Amino acid sequence: MVVSGVLLCATITAFWGDGPFSIRLRPKGNCAQCCPINEREDIAFYLYTRENVMEPQRLWVGNSTALLASNLEVDRPTVIYIHGFTEQANGRGSTTIKNAYLKKGRYNVILVDWSPLCALPWYAHAVINTQPVGVYLSKFLKFIVKHGVQIKSIHLIGFSLGAEIAGFTGKDKSLGKLARITGLDPAFPLYMFSGKGGHLTPTDAEFVDVIHTDGGVFGFPIALGDADFFPNGGFPAQPGCRINSLLQKDQIKRIISCSHDRAWQYYAESVLNEKGFPATRCTNYDAFLAGVCSPLTINPRTNKTEIQFMGFAANPNLKGKFFLVTNSREPFATNFKVANDYEPLIPKIYPNFVEDTK
Ligand SMILES: *[C@@H]1O[C@H](CO)[C@@H](O)[C@H](O)[C@H]1NC(C)=O
Ligand SMILES: *[C@@H]1O[C@H](CO)[C@@H](O)[C@H](O)[C@H]1NC(C)=O
Repeated sequence: MVVSGVLLCATITAFWGDGPFSIRLRPKGNCAQCCPINEREDIAFYLYTRENVMEPQRLWVGNSTALLASNLEVDRPTVIYIHGFTEQANGRGSTTIKNAYLKKGRYNVILVDWSPLCALPWYAHAVINTQPVGVYLSKFLKFIVKHGVQIKSIHLIGFSLGAEIAGFTGKDKSLGKLARITGLDPAFPLYMFSGKGGHLTPTDAEFVDVIHTDGGVFGFPIALGDADFFPNGGFPAQPGCRINSLLQKDQIKRIISCSHDRAWQYYAESVLNEKGFPATRCTNYDAFLAGVCSPLTINPRTNKTEIQFMGFAANPNLKGKFFLVTNSREPFATNFKVANDYEPLIPKIYPNFVEDTK
């Protein structure tokens, strides 16, 4: 069989499981057998607003004509979502987060698509590519800031490898300090020994919050941000992700990434149910389950003890490790009946809590 050079360097979209994913015969990058990276084509920025919920407007670094013609409103908060390995910006994670925000309010939602640079099966190449993609995203942010977007209103949300990209963007000192980075189960394989300069850290934004769901497999098992949230301990299998239950529900295609994907699923739900995921600061999950930590945490800005939440409504002054439990399927939020009827069901798992004064 003759495979043409064009095909060797093309990205192929396949469908299985939750949506589209990317495959390549050769990786993109700087290696000898790699196809060269063309940042302008390979890294795309798709804007969605309430005026265009379904049809994206593509924005380009440096193209002011396209930016000014778009629905971008500089006085709205801007949320930028970066997908993970093999995914695309029209996949389920990106789409779910985008729809949640546009249902919530008037946001500029920009989905980053870097699928040619993170196609199957080239994980190690995708890891190397997260750094230049982060730098290119920083260029894009400087461009929209020049057009009036406030850096203090930019929130980067990255899933898996996307969380590491957000970290590299935040590390670019020529871009002012981003308001917030949310790392959704930041990628662990090949980042574990990379040191602080090589993965997401608390200095990458004013506030870095992290949700851990697949610790030690695809996700980092240790705290990386200012505030780290460990639903169900932060480890696989997350509730509903055991192989038996997936087989029963005919969800075999989700076995590999079920626990990992819970990170964006929990986050998306928290956008529309802000108080659905109360979290307890504690030293570890066992202590949390034993009920020795108070569900009330001191807010360092006010010195008041209050309930703290994982996800959308996370308090930007928070520091530490936080634990909670979830349901095994949607709605994942357990501890509150409904968001607009703010009534904590004091969970049975806190039988003998003591004031947390750390
Ligand atoms: C900028 O964007 C506009 C509108 O999408 C397009 O027509 C134009 O060709 C672009 N210019 C450059 C230099 O890419
Ligand atoms: C909170 O308490 C600490 C320790 O008692 C104190 O140093 C700090 O000034 C207080 N902050 C506020 C905002 O009251």
